[in-house]
Amino acid sequence: MKATTVLRQDHAQVRRLFAQLGRTKPTNIARRQALVDELVTAIEIHAKTEEELFYPVIAPLAPRAVQDGEDEHGEIGTLIADVERCAADSPALDRALAHLRTRIEHHVAEEERALFAAAARLGHEHLTWLGGEMTARKSQLLQSPMQKALRGMKKLARKVA
Ligand SMILES: [Fe+2]
Ligand SMILES: [Fe+2]
Repeated sequence: MKATTVLRQDHAQVRRLFAQLGRTKPTNIARRQALVDELVTAIEIHAKTEEELFYPVIAPLAPRAVQDGEDEHGEIGTLIADVERCAADSPALDRALAHLRTRIEHHVAEEERALFAAAARLGHEHLTWLGGEMTARKSQLLQSPMQKALRGMKKLARKVA
């Protein structure tokens, strides 16, 4: 699969999770929390894969757009921390999610415009190779004991709080 297809699918998955959250009743706390966890994991793994594998390859072709993307990842990280601080049944969570969603929509639109245009210049073979590397890295991050431990700790911290 081409790298841009991998990224496009990730973007669609994140969009889907935001929509599912929007449809979930505020009283369904467990479901909301599970979706927030899934959303945060999806965004973090996606951003890490971009930073490690996609951005470095695109940087020589579109240095400014890659720099903007990295800066935006920083802002998104801050907004994720805001989301994680909110209780699943709080109105504050809806506000934090709305901020995150707006920021991500802008970021994704910019990536798919500026970065994908640059990526197209790499050629089909290179893009497909890169897509394979990214898919492998994503499943590695999802399976990594370190990442799993981090997710478990976040869950535990919520129960204690
Ligand atoms: Fe990104
Ligand atoms: Fe992205």
